[in-house]
Amino acid sequence: MTRKNPPINPNFPTLWHGGDYNPEQWPRATWDEDMEYMRLAGVNTATLGVFSWVSLEPEEGVFTFDWLDEAIDLLHRNQIHVVLATPSAAPPAWMAKKYPEILRVGPDRVRRLHGNRVNFNWASILYREKAAEMAERLALRYGKHPALALWHVSNEYGGRDYSEESRIAFIEWLRNRYSGQLSELNDAYWTTFWGHTYTDWDQIEIPGEPYSEEAIHGLTLDWKRFSSQQILDFYLNESEPLRRITPDIPITTNMMGTYDPLDSWKWKDHVDVFSWDSYPAFAQRPIAIDDWVKTAFTHDLNRSFLDKPFLLIESTPGASNWYSRMRVKRPGMHRLESMQAIAHGSEGVMYFQWRQSRGSSEKFHGAVVSHAGGPGTRVFEDVAEVGRDLHDLTDLVGQCQSPEVAVIYDWENAWALGDSKGPVLGDKQYFGTVLAHYRGFWEQSIACAVLDSVQPLDGYRVVVAPMLYMLKPGVAERLTEFVKAGGTLVTTYLTGIVNESDLAFQRDKHWPLEELLGIFTEEIDALYPEESVNVSVDLGQGEKTYKSGTFCDLISLRGAESLGEYAGEFYHGKPFLTRNRIGKGEAWYIAARTDQRFLYDFYKEMASKLGLEKSIDSETPDGVMAVKRGGRTFLMNFNNELRSFAHRGKVISLAPYDCVVETADVFAVAR
Ligand code: GLA
Repeated sequence: MTRKNPPINPNFPTLWHGGDYNPEQWPRATWDEDMEYMRLAGVNTATLGVFSWVSLEPEEGVFTFDWLDEAIDLLHRNQIHVVLATPSAAPPAWMAKKYPEILRVGPDRVRRLHGNRVNFNWASILYREKAAEMAERLALRYGKHPALALWHVSNEYGGRDYSEESRIAFIEWLRNRYSGQLSELNDAYWTTFWGHTYTDWDQIEIPGEPYSEEAIHGLTLDWKRFSSQQILDFYLNESEPLRRITPDIPITTNMMGTYDPLDSWKWKDHVDVFSWDSYPAFAQRPIAIDDWVKTAFTHDLNRSFLDKPFLLIESTPGASNWYSRMRVKRPGMHRLESMQAIAHGSEGVMYFQWRQSRGSSEKFHGAVVSHAGGPGTRVFEDVAEVGRDLHDLTDLVGQCQSPEVAVIYDWENAWALGDSKGPVLGDKQYFGTVLAHYRGFWEQSIACAVLDSVQPLDGYRVVVAPMLYMLKPGVAERLTEFVKAGGTLVTTYLTGIVNESDLAFQRDKHWPLEELLGIFTEEIDALYPEESVNVSVDLGQGEKTYKSGTFCDLISLRGAESLGEYAGEFYHGKPFLTRNRIGKGEAWYIAARTDQRFLYDFYKEMASKLGLEKSIDSETPDGVMAVKRGGRTFLMNFNNELRSFAHRGKVISLAPYDCVVETADVFAVAR
């Protein structure tokens, strides 16, 4: 199913193409060349002012907006619309010198010196005031400019602050969360363990190794919740003048996919369009399909936040300079990367940055106009090709698919699992596991949404919630309702272990998932990387053997049926794969981590039984898949080799990294 949404800004109803433009770095004569090159590259959007604070206010109270006036007017005359940033990501050096309290404090409790960027103290009242004041000036000056299309608040908000101001704010937040009752906090954290009971709020320190408390997991979890909320509060304060003065101009802030410190779901009521910066490792070694899958997943996540199109607001047409080697994109990769974003719901393709800087830390980072020049260079011509494609795809503006499958990725769950000491120490590969399940659908050209565990599940037919270690209040009940009403749920080992405070459920007394899953989970055997246990499964096509490892959950049946068993170890014969029919639906439990081959077979069987909608109705080779958006089907070859396959009596061949875009109808019939 496809739905049409309004464009990001109704005054600019095209797919956006452009990116970070920093004219203040360049002499005026270069600007005219920029306009000519932008025309040749099919650029219609420019992001200005991202790090421009010192150019706008070179000393306190002295404002120099003239260059920005001129740049915006020039862009407007050239039919290029503007995404205008607030500059808070780069506080000027004069401000840090004059007011050192605005600077960030690290986990070692040492205040950082001025430098780099996003280097400020989230709790600094002064910096909040300064950032809001600058936003207000920009809104008053440019709010009515006909070129203004979107506000871009700050840049890649991130990191955590360990200042005393943040500690005090954290304690206030805790008081609020625990209704002012320290005993509630102590209970939630199980602080009697190791005698960690707090007897006064002020005893609470910001947790984190190696300087502070790391044993109270509930505290660490709350600290991460607080820090994410603190960034959101900063954003709300900074964007308030924009909302007030320019209610018709939409607002975004550029996010970083599943970036750990920022639970992006919490922003969904506060941005008008989600946008993100994508710098995948497509050309890095080893070149693998995995990064394309991860990028598809992150696009789907960004589309799912508001269930409408998002914006790829940064990418590079060349190579990112922060990989250990700047391997350049292989021919076709840039166009494929761009088309992949559009296919998954982006309203454009934007770059960091337009013109490669001559100096400083990102002088090698890929840009549209490089040190080697613009038109005629491989990178520039790749960009110009994308510009033409985007122009031809204008009918997709606002179009959005409604997937039948939702995969759960939950930040708080990631935090809790990541910090838990056991059953495997350190990284439990939550994200990698979610991706592995997502890939089971991706490989079949089945569209997915990506949700967190508290989002509504209406409209989905399948929900996949791997390693949902933490069950927040109401989640078990909602999953049960979903299944009873006819949905299919898949979950795995390490699900339903703790509540929202990281307190383990006493499963013998009451386990919130018992009715839903029809099993009892008793012990988890955690294996070393070189160990594995065979499992033997019949998915309806006869018995097959797969390898399992890392986490092997030892379960028994309490109403569910077993469709596969362990074929090794002392738990030989115990259930590995179970299905519980409850109400009109089914709840599946995969008790151990498996290889991708099992997930592929499992989801293939499920898709065929349920008749899930695919974007192409033929078998495609590995690494070739289709995505539908609006009236188009994007068929993409993510391999560095030619791939051919039969489709409705014809042979379709795709060059390495090729993408063919067809109207869905044409594609369904023949090529
Ligand atoms: C981020 C930033 C940009 C730039 C790029 C380089 O996305 O927002 O300013 O530094 O990284 O990859």
